[in-house]
Amino acid sequence: MSDLFSHPPLGSTAVRPSWEQLPGELRDFVAAHLGSTVATADVQSGGFSPGVAARLSLTNNDRVFIKAIRTDHVLAGKYRTEAETAGRLPSAAPAPRLRWHGMEADWVVLIFDDVDGRHPDLSPGSPDVSTVASALSDMAGLLTPSPLSGLPPASVSRVRLLYGWHDLAESPPHDLGDWEQLHLRALADLETLWGRHADGATLVHGDIRPDNLLITDGTAVVVDWAQPCQGAAWQDIADLIPHLIMAGHTPETAEKALTGLPSWDLAATEVMTSYAAAFAGYWTRMSRQPAPPGVPHLRSYQRRAAEAALAWTMYRTGW
Ligand SMILES: Nc1ncnc2c1ncn2[C@@H]1O[C@H](COP(=O)(O)OP(=O)(O)OP(=O)(O)O)[C@@H](O)[C@H]1O
Ligand SMILES: [Mg+2]
Repeated sequence: MSDLFSHPPLGSTAVRPSWEQLPGELRDFVAAHLGSTVATADVQSGGFSPGVAARLSLTNNDRVFIKAIRTDHVLAGKYRTEAETAGRLPSAAPAPRLRWHGMEADWVVLIFDDVDGRHPDLSPGSPDVSTVASALSDMAGLLTPSPLSGLPPASVSRVRLLYGWHDLAESPPHDLGDWEQLHLRALADLETLWGRHADGATLVHGDIRPDNLLITDGTAVVVDWAQPCQGAAWQDIADLIPHLIMAGHTPETAEKALTGLPSWDLAATEVMTSYAAAFAGYWTRMSRQPAPPGVPHLRSYQRRAAEAALAWTMYRTGW
């Protein structure tokens, strides 16, 4: 767990353009669409994507949050998926309302209600832990059955993403940790089981991380609906565990924080152990990839996340 705590603080991981750097045509469109003038633009540096993310306050006292990316950017498809998803969420979902989305001046643009919130503190003893856990559990209930049709099943979209040991075992990197080396084959076997239990009737957010959560008015709001799928209800809440560990929990206290919540208790023991291994493999694999252009902090974040998910896997397997 060497560099677990040496990293840019949560909420300072993205390098994004300022409002003024955007094409004038785009800024004029947003102002005209909102029927006011932008007074201040507070660029949000949570997340990793190099797209625009800014809280705008307008001279008519309205406030909005805007996300935008060039249409030719490799991530533009994710922004479109987010627009399609956010625009169809039920109003009771703990998510900001999408006011408008479309294409303007070669940018994909999403305009949301502004959330005056902060990222949760998931460290031991923080009241945010139970706020977030119960919000995610309630969200799973609210989004079952999924109010959106046509989403990819988790057994396809998430399984395609959340694995790693299989590839690492094919050509083991020389600097892989001793424990990982020793258990590489077993980890490659273990990481597949959860995929056979991934499907279900729930709309799964699929990217639960503290920087995609905002605490406001004593409750948690979920943003960044860019990789949704339909799957088993335990996934979004289980995704908190590595982040609880990164915030200072032990695997044991992290799991205890979720015990008793219906969506957490749904998963069978061996499925959750496989899921922990899949996350550890995913982050170990991804953290070894070259950094994408304009995204300087992603790989170091993934290294820390891999350490947390490894700790969770060791705890669950007892290996
Ligand atoms: N509606 C909102 N109101 C206020 N702040 C928001 C809102 N939505 C998101 N934010 C803030 O902006 C940051 C970035 O937003 P978001 O997570 O949607 O983009 P991203 O992580 O760059 O997206 P992507 O995952 O597509 O790269 C969040 O971490 C959060 O702090
Ligand atoms: Mg995000």
